Amino acid sequence: MNNMDEKMNKPSLRLNPLSMHVNPELFEKATEEEKAELVVIRQGTSLWKDAMRRFRKNKFAMVALVLIGWLLVRGFRTEPKGAPIRKSAGLSGFGVLSESLIGAFIVLFELVEFDDSIARSISVPVHLVNTLVLLAGLTLTVFWSTEEGVATVESPHRRALIGFGLGMVAIAATGAVAALADTLFPPDSVRSGIAAELGGESGLLTSLKVLHPLFAIAIGIGAVRWIRMHAWDLSGSARLAARIGVFTVGFQLLVGVINVWLLTPIVIQLIHLLLADVLWISWVWLAAALTTAPVRSSALAE
Ligand code: HEM
Repeated sequence: MNNMDEKMNKPSLRLNPLSMHVNPELFEKATEEEKAELVVIRQGTSLWKDAMRRFRKNKFAMVALVLIGWLLVRGFRTEPKGAPIRKSAGLSGFGVLSESLIGAFIVLFELVEFDDSIARSISVPVHLVNTLVLLAGLTLTVFWSTEEGVATVESPHRRALIGFGLGMVAIAATGAVAALADTLFPPDSVRSGIAAELGGESGLLTSLKVLHPLFAIAIGIGAVRWIRMHAWDLSGSARLAARIGVFTVGFQLLVGVINVWLLTPIVIQLIHLLLADVLWISWVWLAAALTTAPVRSSALAE
């Protein structure tokens, strides 16, 4: 038993247990020896050391970084200057680097747990949007690596593809805000959650939640209609991407409603996030198929 414990348990004053008097001995100044006992000596660390420790623990991040590094080296060594695959490999490299930097920023400024600062409300959607950039880079690399060479072609669909693509980024960003609001201020019931969103008394973050389903329904249905009109009769992998896109929007809207109904259990959150990524990959694939075309090897040799 140390000095502090002894002091706490010292029955030197006999007090009536029902008395309101406090034991004055508990408020005596601590001696130097007692103070020294409370000092915990921790090994000094720096941001770099801490980042390396976390990185070594995260096997997925290590494998991903090595694979993307390999992708970059191969892309730049085997492809000619200006080749689309060099750009997509570069985008993947940029995406993984910025993903790590945003992660480090979040840890450094402790934008975690119950922090409800503006910085956190911005960094969470930025992190998710960056993940979409990384996914786009990887998807394009896979798409283009199936051909010997590709070149961009004029397409009347370019504007729509970019417009709906940005719309999907907006759905994801508002979804990330909704996820943060649910973490910080979980509703007790569906009714109280919706009342808090519409009432405006629960703060900006909760009020912003309403944007997500509105964006998702409007942009999701718009994208489905566009695919049915312009991309439904394509062939090969583009045809498959169009069908996956339409199916995913339909299923995702349903999962979104179930998510709200069941008060966002973690399993449904994960399914919802996975479907969002599948939708994004199918859209990027479709966009690549409609705006680039394989180049014959004879043309490449010229
Ligand atoms: C095209 C349709 C949709 C897409 C692509 C989409 C995408 C997303 C994304 C990316 C997140 C962030 C996940 C995270 O960071 O953990 C999210 C969160 C959320 N979404 Fe959606 N969403 C869609 C439709 C809907 C609909 C229709 C509703 C409700 C009626 C909804 C309700 C929610 C809720 C409550 C969250 C926060 C909880 C969570 O993280 O799962 N979503 N959504």
